[in-house]
Amino acid sequence: MMANDRVTTPEVNLSPHFAIQRDRINQALARLLPPADQYPESIHEAMRYSIFAGGKRVRPLLLLETGEAFGGPSEVLLDAGAAVEMIHTYSLIHDDLPAMDNDRFRRGMPTSHVKFGEATAILAGDALLTLAFQVLANLKVRPELVVRAVQILAPAIGTIDGMIGGQVMDIKYEGAQLNQSKLEQLHRAKTGALIRASVLLGALLGEADGGALERLSRLGDKLGLVFQIVDDVLDIEATSSQLGKTAGKDRGARKYTFPSALGLAGSKQYAERLTHGAIAELEQMTRAGGQASKIDASRLKELCLFLVHRKS
Ligand code: IPE
Ligand code: IPE
Ligand code: MG
Ligand code: MG
Ligand code: MG
Repeated sequence: MMANDRVTTPEVNLSPHFAIQRDRINQALARLLPPADQYPESIHEAMRYSIFAGGKRVRPLLLLETGEAFGGPSEVLLDAGAAVEMIHTYSLIHDDLPAMDNDRFRRGMPTSHVKFGEATAILAGDALLTLAFQVLANLKVRPELVVRAVQILAPAIGTIDGMIGGQVMDIKYEGAQLNQSKLEQLHRAKTGALIRASVLLGALLGEADGGALERLSRLGDKLGLVFQIVDDVLDIEATSSQLGKTAGKDRGARKYTFPSALGLAGSKQYAERLTHGAIAELEQMTRAGGQASKIDASRLKELCLFLVHRKS
């Protein structure tokens, strides 16, 4: 393919299968979070409020579909997916705080600090992060898989090329103009790393072999970048009610985003190219022979297409 060839990928409506998977993920979350009437109630109420406010459950779906494609045990994959969703929700609660993006609306509801006050919102984020690692530690798998799961997840949300590092860059570069490679580094860190880790955790718990892990790592990296490019595009093109969060925030906050660097059309085209590349990784993985040649990657492909064409 030439560098400037236009690439398009087909739009999909997620099949009913994914509604079932989301229900299973929500049931796992409901089971793993402390009940709202458990003392001290206020923190448990706040944790549940943000988790069940809505959310597409993209990260646990990626984990579950990857793991199930390799025949991983569903109970383990659901718990690991719930842990990843707890971490993602913590990152949203903190991202919305007045000292960060100062957002009042999230998942179609008032943000945690608006509803419960800043102190409880900060603690609810901390508590979700802590509980996520407790859930991982309790996974019913061989202890070395738990250790490897922590080795994948912790750096993905840490300071070096992980979520926190990306959030630091996001704040530091407000009002700046970045070159594309710096912008990609920021997006990969703040959003991409956790998405890649979700795919890798599914592969790990499905006991995918080294070759498959390598392909899935590249797929996760591309999808993670796509995800934040599309988030930046939707911030401009979608409405607050479609998004369930305040649209048009990035411009006001002088965030340097993909549309500022490549324009809207250029950003969408780049996201399509990356998605095309991610799907190619899947196809090459299943063609490579060995363990991965037996897996059905169609659900993962469907998710890739959903992520680039999503409207919320
Ligand atoms: C929003 O994530 C924040 C980013 C990392 C871009 P999602 O778009 O996955 O938010 P929910 O979970 O569906 O609310
Ligand atoms: C947030 O990026 C990434 C996180 C680590 C939470 P944004 O600030 O663009 O996310 P939204 O648009 O508020 O969901
Ligand atoms: Mg932010
Ligand atoms: Mg934000
Ligand atoms: Mg955004």
